[in-house]
Amino acid sequence: MELIEGIRTRRSMRQFTDKKVDRETLEKIIDAARSAPTWKNSQTVRYVVVEDRQTLDRIADDATCGREANRRTIRGTQTLIALASVKGISGYEPDGSFTTNKGNEWQMFDAGIAAQTFMLAAHAYGVSSVVLGIFSDEKVSEILGLDDTLTVSALIPIGYAGGEPRNPPRKDLLEYIIYK
Ligand SMILES: Cc1cc2nc3c(=O)[nH]c(=O)nc-3n(C[C@H](O)[C@H](O)[C@H](O)COP(=O)(O)O)c2cc1C
Repeated sequence: MELIEGIRTRRSMRQFTDKKVDRETLEKIIDAARSAPTWKNSQTVRYVVVEDRQTLDRIADDATCGREANRRTIRGTQTLIALASVKGISGYEPDGSFTTNKGNEWQMFDAGIAAQTFMLAAHAYGVSSVVLGIFSDEKVSEILGLDDTLTVSALIPIGYAGGEPRNPPRKDLLEYIIYK
């Protein structure tokens, strides 16, 4: 898929068919996504792959902060990526101090780039996705038994499109640009 076409045609998908994304395809997607830029090339993002039905349902029911739409989306997926980051590296100097006045916000920045790179790579392989921000990272970490070196930045359900995307419109181009 041509790059600009892929960027333009990716859309959030919240309904999936029963067909599961196989591990070979998933690893191709993550292999492409690991080309994403990261803070000082620190590569602190981890893709925690959740396929177990009971675990998926627990996350859906107990970790979506009462957001019914997100509960439904996770219940309807066969595979959920918990996008995690190794804490205390992105944004930091080796002595543990912050490099810039943005503090550790760079960790989330890295995760955001990783998320979009992952979703674009998935799209190129015909796999749909949506990034979910409304969830409890603490609950997800507890359910998955993640150790406290990791923090979960986003959840990304993936699968084969089971409906039409909503296609929400964008603001006009010139609203996006501030020339100085
Ligand atoms: C940081 C972030 C958090 C989001 N959280 C949610 C969410 O919790 N639930 C959801 O259904 N979509 C969520 N989305 C998806 C957006 O609603 C979606 O990207 C936006 O409406 C534009 O639609 P498109 O992705 O189809 O272009 C999130 C997107 C981003 C970037």
